[in-house]
Amino acid sequence: MDLPEGLKLIDENGKRLDGRRPDELRPIKIEAGVLKRADGSAYVEMGKNKILAAVYGPRECHPRHLQDPSKAIVQCAYNMLSFSVDDRKRPGPDRRSIEISKILSEALERVVFLEQFPRTSIDVYIAVLQANAGTRCAGLTAASVALADAGIPMRDLVPACAAGKVADTIVLDLNKEEDNFGQADLPLAYLPRTGEILLLQMDGHMTQDEFERAVELAKGGCSRIYALQQEALKRKYSVIVSEEESKAGEVS
Ligand code: CDP
Repeated sequence: MDLPEGLKLIDENGKRLDGRRPDELRPIKIEAGVLKRADGSAYVEMGKNKILAAVYGPRECHPRHLQDPSKAIVQCAYNMLSFSVDDRKRPGPDRRSIEISKILSEALERVVFLEQFPRTSIDVYIAVLQANAGTRCAGLTAASVALADAGIPMRDLVPACAAGKVADTIVLDLNKEEDNFGQADLPLAYLPRTGEILLLQMDGHMTQDEFERAVELAKGGCSRIYALQQEALKRKYSVIVSEEESKAGEVS
């Protein structure tokens, strides 16, 4: 898509359209345990993205033919709601949401201790309430907090964010204008503790050197998001612990 006349993705001071420096994330808010009836849940805002994740299970696997006698499967359903984008999105699954659901399921299956729950399914629903580029990353960030909130045994949280190339500059966490009019977008999920990459895609063109710089930038973004995920879980569970303590105090 051509850049509208007069629109500069990076200005003369090196700042982006929303005022960020190339290596800055959008403001992020993460809240754990926001839905009462789900086994686990999380809400994430990443810039103008607003995303809810709900986890159910481990529970009997449906459809039955997907059951694995040796382990659980993770079934992730990414859904962009009709009102989440500028042009109303037609409800229901499409090629894009099927692809995103698949790659998110695969990333989450790498961290959950699946062998502990044979024949079951861990169902993860991701609802994009408002989209502004980077929803698969924000969805994965939310989903792993929701899995932890459900108490599902897993070896790590999965932070994700994109980097890319905009006006010949390598930038972190592209927003919608940068995604539309930029040169490349590279979503990445990275475990800071072990150095593993659980998701890496790329749209557009970069040289090998640019690609390597974008990967490093996205890894740095993931490390910052990882800390926020941990804080969100601690916030929720420290409240529960202090409520339990005050109840115990009333009884005694
Ligand atoms: O959201 P993400 O960057 O992971 O995926 P994308 O396919 O690169 O989409 C980028 C953005 O385009 C989304 O976040 C939405 O803001 C927008 N989009 C849209 O407006 N309508 C669609 N049907 C799909 C995406």
